[in-house]
Amino acid sequence: MRAADIAGDLERVLVTDEQIQDKLAELAAEVDRDYAGKDILLVGVLKGAVMVMADFARHLTIDAPMDWMAVSSYGSSTKSSGVVQIRKDLDTPLEGKHVLVVEDVIDSGLTLSWLLEHFATRGAASIEVLAMLRKPDAMKVEIDSRYVGFDIPNDFVVGYGLDYDERYRGLRDVAVLARHVYN
Ligand code: PRP
Repeated sequence: MRAADIAGDLERVLVTDEQIQDKLAELAAEVDRDYAGKDILLVGVLKGAVMVMADFARHLTIDAPMDWMAVSSYGSSTKSSGVVQIRKDLDTPLEGKHVLVVEDVIDSGLTLSWLLEHFATRGAASIEVLAMLRKPDAMKVEIDSRYVGFDIPNDFVVGYGLDYDERYRGLRDVAVLARHVYN
């Protein structure tokens, strides 16, 4: 669906489908160059990264295997503590791989900060991050992300994988959710 289909649920559109696809094509061209001849592994973090992984991987001209992780917190307390629980681990050993973690959004940065530390112990040749969205005003820890799509304000944002109570992930655009939906 597009933002116009659910206009009543949205306050404003931040990034359109077209802007996302253009940006992904740009980032994919960079990754094509940077990883030519390297043993790359794309790692997606479920569930939010599904959309960006699907589109990004298809913009690449190099063949890039992908693997998935599911992590979760013990509720909102975990988000602030930065403690992450692995619900589904990778199927692929990381030894010697050039890992590119693909994320929909960096919010506080705590999930990625934990994941990157965790991956560093598994023998990857390199670990980098591609994030479609980043909220600089929400970040609690510094994350060195090599490829970033868009910096967005610290609002309640849905679409392109981001949900509110599992809704709106399939929205093609990224938009601020109207307050009446969650109040
Ligand atoms: C979202 C998103 C990132 C994380 C970013 O996942 O996909 O993984 O939050 O937040 P942080 O920077 O504050 O750690 P979420 O836990 O909402 O799960 P989901 O992907 O299944 O929606």
